[in-house]
Amino acid sequence: MNTILVTGGAGFIGSHLTDRLLAEKNKVVVFDNLSLGRKSNLKQALQDPNCTFVEGDILNEELLKSLFEQHKFNIIFHLAANSDIARSYANPNVDLDMTFLTTYAILQKMRQYGVKKLMFASTSAIYGQTGGVEVKETYGPLFPASHYGAGKLASEAFISSFAENYGIQAWITRFPNVCGERTTHGILHDFVKKLKKTPEELEVLGDGKQAKPYLYVKDLIDAILFVMSHSDEKINYYNLGVEGQTSVSKIAEFVIEAMNLHAKIRYTGGDRGWVGDVPKFAYNLDKIHQLGWKASYSSDEAVKQAIKNILEQDACSL
Ligand SMILES: NC(=O)c1ccc[n+]([C@@H]2O[C@H](COP(=O)([O-])OP(=O)(O)OC[C@H]3O[C@@H](n4cnc5c(N)ncnc54)[C@H](O)[C@@H]3O)[C@@H](O)[C@H]2O)c1
Repeated sequence: MNTILVTGGAGFIGSHLTDRLLAEKNKVVVFDNLSLGRKSNLKQALQDPNCTFVEGDILNEELLKSLFEQHKFNIIFHLAANSDIARSYANPNVDLDMTFLTTYAILQKMRQYGVKKLMFASTSAIYGQTGGVEVKETYGPLFPASHYGAGKLASEAFISSFAENYGIQAWITRFPNVCGERTTHGILHDFVKKLKKTPEELEVLGDGKQAKPYLYVKDLIDAILFVMSHSDEKINYYNLGVEGQTSVSKIAEFVIEAMNLHAKIRYTGGDRGWVGDVPKFAYNLDKIHQLGWKASYSSDEAVKQAIKNILEQDACSL
């Protein structure tokens, strides 16, 4: 039985991953400071005696040390990070600390305690403004447009140097936009909130032509575990995604339809939603397809399913 540490395991993606790792009979320690995550995401997981939740900050050196002393981890899934890209515009330290220094702290503890396997939750944001061309894993030069992307790229660089120097094996999986149950923020939430306030009109930031691939969270978890069981290099790096993109105007239409409204869409103009946004993004997925994995939901289906989840979630919390 593997003993696994999931950092950020009370978050959206981390909690789905935890559920799946427990279903596959692993022992899972979830470490999360609940700054963005919620303990309620672990409702199902915590019923399993193989799941332990530890509330704390990765940047708390003493706490992290005692965690590694207490458990002999075989694998670490490092997902803790800032997940709100626009937020660090006002304060870049958010991504320096939460996105980069958390990774560095985990690597240091892996080195000190001899933990040899790491899965890192990276992102399409490392690629920067690509102008919508299909981006392969070998694309470059890499100039991220957001502090978040910079924090993830710096993390990848240190994972590489730790792998080379201390014999750590790494799976760097670069997620696109991910959606599904348990999200707390993002465009789908913004649109639902705005329409609840003003059902006759939906204000959309930008020109609506921004388009990105949306991967359904259960497909993402499948892809992560598939990559880990089918690749065995020192550093394994993959774009995880879905073919096709969903435009912002299409998302607006899907939300209006799901809420049974006839709202008029008003665009604020300009080609992007906020500073640091990457308005058009497309992955080249040849590498993961050749490995043998494909998403089961299309990007549009993933978005529609996620809207349904948000509306059901809202109805439950009324
Ligand atoms: N959701 C997406 O679309 C997406 C896309 C690309 C990459 N990612 C990456 O996937 C991972 C998970 O994202 P998510 O959407 O589930 O976000 P999330 O915010 O729901 O999860 C991140 C978790 O990390 C925790 N955390 C943050 N800083 C911490 C710290 N210092 N110590 C302990 N815990 C800390 C938060 O409380 C939260 O529970 C992140 O690394 C994110 O960058 C997500």
